[in-house]
Amino acid sequence: MNARTIRKKFLDYFESKEHQVVRSSSIVPADDPTLYFTNAGMVQFKNVFVGEESRSYSRACTSQKCLRVSGKHNDLENVGRTSRHHTFFEMLGNFSFGDYFKKEAIGFAWEFLTKTMGLDETRFVATVFAGEDGIPGDDEAFDIWHKEMGLPKERVQRLGKADNFWAMGDTGPCGPCSELHYHQSDEVPCNEDKCLGAACECDRWVEVWNLVFMQFNRDDKGAFHPLKAPGVDTGMGLERLAAVLQGQLSTYDTDLLMPIIHRVADLAGKRYGDNGEDDVSLRVV
Ligand code: SER
Repeated sequence: MNARTIRKKFLDYFESKEHQVVRSSSIVPADDPTLYFTNAGMVQFKNVFVGEESRSYSRACTSQKCLRVSGKHNDLENVGRTSRHHTFFEMLGNFSFGDYFKKEAIGFAWEFLTKTMGLDETRFVATVFAGEDGIPGDDEAFDIWHKEMGLPKERVQRLGKADNFWAMGDTGPCGPCSELHYHQSDEVPCNEDKCLGAACECDRWVEVWNLVFMQFNRDDKGAFHPLKAPGVDTGMGLERLAAVLQGQLSTYDTDLLMPIIHRVADLAGKRYGDNGEDDVSLRVV
């Protein structure tokens, strides 16, 4: 399935679930001195999440252009060297502003991936927040995955704050999250004695979707204040989903990026695949 079709199917799916389809905002946030660049789909909705702005809709979906080159959530050192990290990428997201919460968010994600996209459900592991720093673990999300979606207990992993608590920046809306990781192949090298599965940095598994349950607003002293109307902020890498659906281990080998890499290689007088270090440079460009 090509990326254009995937993007359209995503937006159509959420439109059919009464979400407003909203255009990607600028990569330079309109009015946010805390961020240089838009680094997630929720950035244009930040004030809606904290209750400072209201919209005519309480459900939205986007395909948001994102840039991660500095600050929190940047993967700059990995770009070009791994099969899945980028500076620029597109994030597919669905959002609830005080409307639905965990049960619907998890149900939508599962239905979209396994039914609309037709991916093999046995290749997924879900992760949920284990609890840390006085913030309780997310038993509710665990139960939804296990009891309602039918994932066996061993395919729902509990991880700490580094993996399963999401914040846009040092201040602002944040909350526990639940990620979906897809098993690509055991043939891919892993540096651990025993691969850590969804928690591993290797390419055997790829995180495709992050479902954030926005519950708190963090102030500049680091204190968490419960939001009056908790919401949902999800983000799925279009390039990663395209790789999975196109049977590629690397996002660079998808129809989104391969034509650009070949064009850059032509301009540079190189051939992609001939030399490892040159290939890193071509992917970086
Ligand atoms: N904001 C979350 C992320 O960037 C989910 O969209 O992962």
